[in-house]
Amino acid sequence: MRIYPLEKSLNLTIDDIAADKSISHRCAIFSLLSDKPSRIRNYLRAGDTLNTLKIVQLLGAKVEDNGSEIAIMPPQKIKEPNEILECGNSGTAMRLFMGLLAAQEGFFVLSGDRYLNSRPMARIAKPLNDMGAKIDGVNNANNAPLCIRGSKFERFSFEGKIASAQVKSALLLAALYSNGCKFSEPELSRDHTERMLAGMGADIKRDDLEITLEPMKAPLAPLDIDVPNDPSSAFFFAVAALIIPGSHIILKNILLNKTRIEAYKILEKMGAEIKFHKTSSKYEDIGDIEVRYSPNLKGVEVSENISWLIDEAPALAIAFACAKGQSKLINAKELRVKESDRIAVTINALKQCGVDASELEDGFIINGSEAKFATIDSHGDHRIAMSFAVLGLKCGMQIEKSEFIATSFPNFAEILKKMGARVEDRAC
Ligand code: S3P
Repeated sequence: MRIYPLEKSLNLTIDDIAADKSISHRCAIFSLLSDKPSRIRNYLRAGDTLNTLKIVQLLGAKVEDNGSEIAIMPPQKIKEPNEILECGNSGTAMRLFMGLLAAQEGFFVLSGDRYLNSRPMARIAKPLNDMGAKIDGVNNANNAPLCIRGSKFERFSFEGKIASAQVKSALLLAALYSNGCKFSEPELSRDHTERMLAGMGADIKRDDLEITLEPMKAPLAPLDIDVPNDPSSAFFFAVAALIIPGSHIILKNILLNKTRIEAYKILEKMGAEIKFHKTSSKYEDIGDIEVRYSPNLKGVEVSENISWLIDEAPALAIAFACAKGQSKLINAKELRVKESDRIAVTINALKQCGVDASELEDGFIINGSEAKFATIDSHGDHRIAMSFAVLGLKCGMQIEKSEFIATSFPNFAEILKKMGARVEDRAC
């Protein structure tokens, strides 16, 4: 993708931000927990979540899609598929299916693209295997391809050491189909699984950082849900509005769950003018986010609630690069095992753009400076590609492997063009 500097301000309302990826994955996967059809509107139609939908079909569900609503009819019993379950680029899909399938009758093989197959899976395989699961795979089950021979577990207690919603969700799904569990996390990670399971009638309770889940005695109630738009996807445009003079944008129908909007709060600390307008609240708070060009962004230090902003770190780095003074992000080692090593890839790309930036083992330091055109490599990471597209609105950018944007936000370039940006979006 080639992006040219934008010569005008952004003044628009964006109502077609991609639907929330975390919630969409869960809608497809959790529809298997019921015996009645789930109805999902605004499901994310992007590479990652379409793969999840396909896997749900291979596990026996029937999917009807009338364009505005997807109906998922679950099978009576999860079917043993006779093909590999391809998760593409998605860690969420692979990890949640690991938990779900570890407790089913049958044999299952999960695999992904070369990026996903190099990401760590022992964080789920090991605790489940310690409890009696039969998961094997490359590097002692730390990497996919993974094969799972399903079995049931005793009731278990697990103390999570990393704040990971994927680990939490995987273990809860395994426990739901077995004999329940007590699960604790070191800090609150995104809580969509708990909210949705509770909404479907599961016996799940949270006491601060500890969750108690009872086994599923009967199928859960189906989902009937409008997926809100994704705050992580909207964030690229929030940063764009902040750094392009004269801009004012409204991002519509965005999920406002506090575990998902921390990066916006950091922008506010930097001096950004952002307003949240809550419009509805069923299982989750939803609303519009209004962002104005903020010429006096200043550097900031970020060390807390990291799991609440982990997906936005690359785009936050772009805001840091455009601020006055030094910014620092720490306690974010998890960034090294996302779709790419986001610490190394972000910092290298910023350096290529002439920005004074350096890596820390668990984060980065960025000194605000004038960025210049560069050709950067996304390393197969959608969020790196989109973050540098945003910087490209200021100084121009050539982004290699930009096709990965379609894993989460297929209409990203279309929105850039609607904003008046000149984008050549042939895959490179
Ligand atoms: C996700 C959880 C986060 C996040 C990922 C989506 C989820 O990962 O980075 O993009 O939907 O559960 P971890 O739970 O591994 O931190």
